[in-house]
Amino acid sequence: MHKFEKIWMSVGTGSLIIFLVILGVSAVHAGHTPAASGIETINPEYVRDDDRFAEPGLYESDDDEFDYNLYFVASAFNYEPSEVEIPQGSRVKVQVVSTDVVHGFQVVNTNINMMVEPGLVSTYRTNFDNVGEYLIVCNEYCGVGHTDMTSTIKVVE
Ligand code: CUA
Repeated sequence: MHKFEKIWMSVGTGSLIIFLVILGVSAVHAGHTPAASGIETINPEYVRDDDRFAEPGLYESDDDEFDYNLYFVASAFNYEPSEVEIPQGSRVKVQVVSTDVVHGFQVVNTNINMMVEPGLVSTYRTNFDNVGEYLIVCNEYCGVGHTDMTSTIKVVE
């Protein structure tokens, strides 16, 4: 065999091994892992295997910083839950994931406006101080049903 061929063969094999090791490491961490940037990742295909997103909705928080965790699953073309009630004055950690394409999560008349990318958990910390009905709309074009993609947050006394 030619000398250079040998070198390239070993480079190829070496890269393959490195690739397989990386793949193995990622597989071990499948589920939800904080990415290096601090943004949590999630496999969009296995969103439902995550306790938070199996039955999305409002749940009391164990964290002293929040009263509730509010989980949403976005998919073409709806949000789950399609409606949720939150007691007035609650400190809420909102977490939204997508099972398919990029969606938006904008709560009209609030500062909440997030991009929901498949593979990431979009998080927003907020207080719901004012009673009322807040429309959630998708503001990233996601297909034919894009404009019908809504949900409602009802802040109640
Ligand atoms: Cu979802 Cu537009």
